Amino acid sequence: MTNSNIIGKRIIELSTCHSTNDYSLKKINENQLSEGDVVYADEQTHGKGQKGNVWETESGSNLTLSYILEPVFLKPAYQFELTVVVSLGMIDLLRKYNIDAFIKWPNDIYVGTKKIAGILIENKIKGSKLGYSIVGVGLNVNQEVFEIDSAVSMKQIAGEEFSLMELLLELSRSIEFYYGELKKGIDLRPIYYERLIGINKELLFDDGQQFRSEVVSIDDYGALVLSKFGEEMKYGVKEVKFLEL
Ligand code: BTN
Repeated sequence: MTNSNIIGKRIIELSTCHSTNDYSLKKINENQLSEGDVVYADEQTHGKGQKGNVWETESGSNLTLSYILEPVFLKPAYQFELTVVVSLGMIDLLRKYNIDAFIKWPNDIYVGTKKIAGILIENKIKGSKLGYSIVGVGLNVNQEVFEIDSAVSMKQIAGEEFSLMELLLELSRSIEFYYGELKKGIDLRPIYYERLIGINKELLFDDGQQFRSEVVSIDDYGALVLSKFGEEMKYGVKEVKFLEL
């Protein structure tokens, strides 16, 4: 049990599974999971990343988990707000350990130019509402060596080992706080922009053409708003690449 009221109130611990998101989906369909439950695995054999990518992590070294949410108060069109909630929860967690992390739109958490965590949210729409959301989080914690140069862990930054269970409890509290704020109708964008890469900083982007822009905003539906050669443009997930951070 965590001392959160909802998020992480029940922890389902698995030594291994295919993917905590897939396991959660199966258990939701069997009516065995409800809002706030978290499925945590030491090891995933087929961890899923964004855009059909694979999420590979060293067994037992990192946080790989899925939270179950039932955000029935949220219209499906505004589902990006859940990414805002979880991103802010992750940033707060890392800041508690003096790790200065930033959000890279839409789903990544970075420290400098290296990725420390990724978020994969899978939603089920029921009628005009969001029925449930499976919020998958992969946070690099104690892993010391990565196959890709662009990844980093908390241990590599802080020089110390972290307790995965303590991090899970802290993360649950942080996410619970922002989820509660969202439910109350509080606008989380001002805090989100404080930690968003590209706000007040011109970066190089590529949408088929290279151009420089600051991040103007993220619209209500989660699109990235940039200024391309003076014209405001909106981009969905696969429509633009960051060429620098
Ligand atoms: C990304 O950055 O591409 C998103 C990575 C999300 C990985 C997590 S690990 C726990 C959960 N289960 C999965 O299969 N994926 C997410």
